[in-house]
Parts: sequence; structure tokens; C-alpha cells
Amino acid sequence: MVVGHLFLNKRVMANNKTGFTSSFGVIMAAAGSAVGLGNIWRFPYICGQYGGAACLFVYLLFVFLIGMVLLMTEFVIGRRSGFSPEKAFPALYPKRPSWKMVGLFGMFTCFLILAIYLVISGWTLGYFWESLTGTLASIADDGFKAHFDAFVASPWKPVVFLVIFLIFTLLVILGGVQKGIEKVSKLLMPILLVLVLLLCVRSLTLPGASKGLAYLFHPDFSLLTWDGILAILGQALFSLSVGMGAMIVYGSYIPRDSNILKNAMWITVCDVSIAVLAGIAIFPAVFAAGQNPADGPGLVYQVLPVVFNSLGTVGQVFAVLFFLLLVLAALTSAISLLETLTAWLADKGMKRKVAAVIITLIEVVLGIFVAYSFTGGPLSDITPGGKNFFDWANDLTGAYLPPIGALLTVIFFGWVMKKEDIYDELSNHGVLKISWFKVFYHILVRFVAPAALLVSLIASILT
Ligand code: TRP
Repeated sequence: MVVGHLFLNKRVMANNKTGFTSSFGVIMAAAGSAVGLGNIWRFPYICGQYGGAACLFVYLLFVFLIGMVLLMTEFVIGRRSGFSPEKAFPALYPKRPSWKMVGLFGMFTCFLILAIYLVISGWTLGYFWESLTGTLASIADDGFKAHFDAFVASPWKPVVFLVIFLIFTLLVILGGVQKGIEKVSKLLMPILLVLVLLLCVRSLTLPGASKGLAYLFHPDFSLLTWDGILAILGQALFSLSVGMGAMIVYGSYIPRDSNILKNAMWITVCDVSIAVLAGIAIFPAVFAAGQNPADGPGLVYQVLPVVFNSLGTVGQVFAVLFFLLLVLAALTSAISLLETLTAWLADKGMKRKVAAVIITLIEVVLGIFVAYSFTGGPLSDITPGGKNFFDWANDLTGAYLPPIGALLTVIFFGWVMKKEDIYDELSNHGVLKISWFKVFYHILVRFVAPAALLVSLIASILT
């Protein structure tokens, strides 16, 4: 009875040679994709800008109501089809091949995200290096803004670190899905958890830490604007790596007997926990050092070093740990982005390794373009609509593109794909009981998620 559907996914059919080996592997790899700069760099500063706890509350709502639905949706599309996004949509609905546009739209989003991701990861690697060598420790408290500005304006520093970071990423992809991605994620994710917990303990035991906690957990809804709500929705999707097809690719690597709903829940819980823990590690420290939490994207580069310096010699150790945490989180996400684009070309018939190298070369060029938004040269003078390349890429990928991709994907899933196919895939062909999901499907998947996405998108266009 099962066979009729199974033929589709060649990836997990062939003894799972090209997919992940276990549910644990799936969860670590996908949590590695989800947990990234979005959790530790972007989430705290967005929280800082839009009212701390109020932002947290809305974020949790979006993550569990919409983000998790999308995660499960993409996993089903990926595992059932066995393809990366461009081929996955038409494989599941051959009557209208034009659905492949949704997949292509996702690839475009991934290209852009990887470009800014590499730039920020390059800064982070640079700061990690400077925390190791003692450069950061030698800067006076009021000098960090100037230091950051000088760092990003340097014509070579950000590029060098970007390239080093990208080489590491490429090496993992060249190692393959099991021996590269899965192995590295299983190693790095537990380390990451230990690092963030260590930083939380330090931050919470600082004098005055309670102010930071109150800021994070005591909601002030007056700071929450429509703009804020859209930024938070975008952040919820960005943070789970959904709305751009990346989880369709990882979905195509999920073993046949692995429980998709359970995986999606665990990954969401990991992602949210790390974001909240990052907030706990950062805000109490920021308040304890008398700094401003609403400082925007510079928060972790301009404000946190002041905090570390105020802690004396141990502060240096914590600076190293913090930037290491950020580098590792960024690495597992960059791996997922590069893998998504590689799998896309590989599905079109290109050799995997060749595809990975080609994408890497394109991203170096794109990354340099974005990095040069800050160097003061001709590229930083191009500012359509008053924004440089970096701001454009950051706003597009953070707030606008993921909700569009997510809306189209969830419409496909809820209204185009056959309900029976979905149930069959989620129940592992009748093995798992998913009766509660059927209720969930009719309310959340078909109505609540698309409506919420649509309303936020319209609101953002109007405002
Ligand atoms: N989720 C990642 C983060 O929070 C960023 C991200 C967005 C991503 N889309 C992605 C990572 C696709 C991998 C693949 O930082």
C-alpha cells in the first residue's frame, strides 16, 4: 500500500546513503541551521528596539503558531519529493510546474542571506581573533564604536575573515551530508549550548542583573509598533530558517522512519531556547555595565566589549567564549545555506563538489559587494532609497522575503497538496498516530498561518 508513494524520494530510499542517519542527526543539523546570528546577534537587538518582553511574547507566538508549521511543511515537501525546492514543488504537483517559482524565489533569498551572513560572520571571526590576541581588551570603553566603524570600513579585514569563514563552511559541505554536515552539527551544537549557559551564569551573577531580566521578561506593549510586529514575524521565520526552502533540502535528507512532527517541535524548542538564553546572557550584562540595550545591530560589537572590559581579566575569557559562540552558531547556519544552494545545482545534474565551489565563488563576490557598503568607496556611495547594500540585504532577508516565501509555501501545502499525501507522510505511512494533527491542519495550516502572514504583509506594504 505504501509503495505507490515511496518511489518519489530517491534520496532516502537508497539505504539512506545520502541523507541523515538518525532523528538525532536531523535535529542537530536543522537546529544548527536555525540557531545562528539570528538568535544571538539579531534577536537581542530587535528585542531591544521593540520593547524587550513585549517583543519576546509576540516572537514566541509567531514561532510556535507560524514558524513551526512552516518547518513541518517544508520537511514534508522535502522528504516526500526527495528534491531541493525548485524540483520539489512540481514533483508534488505536476499539473502546474510553475510552482517551481516558489522554489526559485527561495534560492534567491538564500543567496542574499548567505552574502550578509558571510559579512557578519567575518566581523565576528575578526572580533573573536581580536579577543584572543588582546586587541579588544586594550580599547577604552568609549572607543568601541570608533573601533567597530574602523573595522568594518577597512578594505581588507572584513574580506579576509569572510573568506576564511567561507573556506571552513565549504570544507564541511565537501565532506558530505553525513560526514560533513551531520557530524559537525552533532559536535558543535552541544558545545554551543554549554557556551551560552556559561555566559548566562556569568551575566546573571553580576550586580544589577535583575534590571536586565525585568527588561526581557516584563512586557511594555507601548513600544510595539506595526513595523515592529512585521520585523518580529520576519525574525521568527528567519530564525527557524523557513520561508526560503532550506528546510525542504534538509527535509529531503530525513530518514523514512523519523518522526517529522516530533523533529519540528524539538528544533523549534532548541531555537527558541537559545534565543532566550542569548537574551539572558546579554541584557543583564548590558544593564550591569550601564549600557543602552536599544543600540541596534551594533549591540554585540559595540556594547558587549564594554561589558567584558568591565569584568577585568575574566572578562577577556568571556569575550573569547562569546565570540566563539557566535562564530560556531553562524557556521552551522552558513553550512545549511551553502548546502541548500549546492543541493539545488546538484539536483539540476551538476556534480555536488563542483556546485559547492561555484556557489562559494559567487558568494565571495556578493559578500565583498555587501562588505564594501561600509568602506567608504564607490560601492558604499550606491544607496538606492537611502540604504546601502548591507541595509537592503538585511531588511529584505530579515523582514520581507521570508514572509512572502512562507505564505506561498503554506498555501501550496494547505490548499494544493493532497491532504492524504500529507497525512501519509507525517504518519510515516500509517505507522504513527497523528489524529491530533488533523485538527491542527484544518485550523492552523489552512487558515491561521496564511491569514497571519497575509495580514502582516499587507500591513507592511501600507505602512
Ligand atoms: N536561521 C538562521 C539564524 O537564525 C538564519 C537563516 C535564515 C538561515 N534562513 C536560513 C540559515 C536558511 C540557514 C538556511 O541565524
